[in-house]
Amino acid sequence: MSKMIKGFSKFSKTEKVNWLAENFFHDKSSGIDTLKQYYNEDPELQQLHDEFIENTISNFYIPYAIAPNFLINGKTYAIPMAIEESSVVAAASLTAKFWSTRGGFKTKVISTTKTGQVHFTYKGNKDELRDYFSSVKSKLIHSTDHITANMRKRGGGIVDIELRDKTENLADYYQIHVSFLTGDSMGANFINSCLETIAASFQKEGIFIVMSILSNYVPDCLVRAEVTCKVEDFFPENAELYARKFVQAVQIAEVEPYRAVTHNKGIMNGIDAVVLATGNDFRAVAAGAHAYASREGRYKSLTGASVVNGLFNFWIEIPMALGTVGGLTRLHPLAKLSMEILQNPTASELMQIVAVAGLAQNFAALKALTTTGIQQGHMKMHLMNILNQLEANVHEKELIVEAFKGKTVSHSAVAEYLHHMRTGH
Ligand code: HMG
Repeated sequence: MSKMIKGFSKFSKTEKVNWLAENFFHDKSSGIDTLKQYYNEDPELQQLHDEFIENTISNFYIPYAIAPNFLINGKTYAIPMAIEESSVVAAASLTAKFWSTRGGFKTKVISTTKTGQVHFTYKGNKDELRDYFSSVKSKLIHSTDHITANMRKRGGGIVDIELRDKTENLADYYQIHVSFLTGDSMGANFINSCLETIAASFQKEGIFIVMSILSNYVPDCLVRAEVTCKVEDFFPENAELYARKFVQAVQIAEVEPYRAVTHNKGIMNGIDAVVLATGNDFRAVAAGAHAYASREGRYKSLTGASVVNGLFNFWIEIPMALGTVGGLTRLHPLAKLSMEILQNPTASELMQIVAVAGLAQNFAALKALTTTGIQQGHMKMHLMNILNQLEANVHEKELIVEAFKGKTVSHSAVAEYLHHMRTGH
C-alpha cells in the first residue's frame, strides 16, 4: 500500500490522525490514545499550540524545570530550563549555588549587531557595479523606511549597508551585506522584510538576485560571562591540583576538536534549555555558536580558563540573537512565564542570563570530569529513568534510591538489584 498522500495539509486534525493510524500504527486505537493523552484539556490552549506549526497531531512534552540561586551582576535569578536530559538542571543548580558564595557571575554584552544579506550575481564591470551601488545606497536604505520606522524609534534599524565582492569564492557572486540593530526582538522577520525590500529596489541590467535572508551567524552580537575566585576557594582539598586540571581540560578543548565538540555540547545543554524555555530559536543560537567556535579555522572551546596570580578565572564568549518580544516569546504561555520568572529581561539581559547558563553547565561538567568522573552524578540523576524503564513501582523506587545513595548507578546494577528484590535471587 502506498503511504504517499495528496492534500494532507487540508485534512482536519482528526482526519490527519486517522490517516496516520490507518497507515502507520500497529495498534490503531492505542496509538490514537497516546496522541490524545497529550492534548491540552483547554481547547483554546490546544488550538494555540496547534497553530504554532503545521500539520499538528498532538503536543510533544519536554520537561520544564528551574535552576535557582544564580547570582548575576549582584542580582539573583531562578533560571527556567526546558530539556529532556537528566542531570543538566541539577548541574546548573549546583554551579549556581557554588558561585553564589564566591561573588557570583559577572556578565556584559559586547555588541548587539545582526546581519542579513542580499545574495546576487553580476557578470558586468566591477567598477560600474560599485558606482551603481554608491548611487543607490541611500535610496536602498530609505526604501525600507516604512518597515524600520518603529524600530528606529526604539533605537534600532539599519546600521550599515555595504557591497561585498565574493567573486574570489564563487564566480560572479556579490552581496549587499546589511547590519541591523533590532532592540528587544530577535529580528528575523524584520531583517528579512528589509532585505527583500532592498533587493526589490536593487535593479540594474546584469544583476540577478539569488536570495535575501538574515544570517544566523552573529559574531557581532556577542556576550561574555565569567567567574573568578581565589584558587584555594576552588575546592576543599587539593584546590591547586583541581584548578590546574580544570584549566587543562579547557585547554584540551581549545586544541582538540573531538573533545571541543563534546565540551561545547555540554555548554549548549544549558544554552539551548533556556533559549527553548523563553520561546527563542535554539537552532539559530546553536548554529551561530558552533560557527563561532570554528571562526579561527579549527573548531574549539567556547569557554576559556586560567589561573593567574592565585586567581581561578573561567569565562565564555558566545554570539546569540535573542528576543524578549515577538515570535513565541509572548505567545507561548510558558515562554511568557519564563520571562516573568527572569524578571522580564531586555534582550541584552537575556543574552547575559543564557551565557551564564552555558558557562554554569560547562563548569559542572568539567568539575565532575576532572574529579569524580561524569558517571557518578549523571547516573545518580538518571536513576529515575532507569527505574521507569524497568517499570519499578513507587515502593521499589523508594527502596532502590535509598540503596544506591553514595554508589555509582549503572543500568545493569539497578536491574540486578530490582530482580533480586522481586525474586529473592
Ligand atoms: P551532588 O554533589 O551529588 O549533589 O551533585 P547533592 O545531592 O550534594 O546536592 C547539591 C546541589 O546540587 C543541590 O543543592 C542542587 O543545587 C543540586 P540543594 O538544592 O540541595 O540546595 N542538585 C539537584 N538539583 C535538582 N535536583 C536534583 C539535584 N541533585 C543535586 N535531583 C550533580 C550531583 C549531578 C549535580 C553533579 O554530580 C554534577 O554537576 N555533575 C555533572 C552533571 C552534568 O554535567 N550533566 C550534563 C549532562 S552530561 C553531558 O551531556 C555533557 C558532557 O558530556 C559535557 C562534557 O563532556 O564537557 C559531560
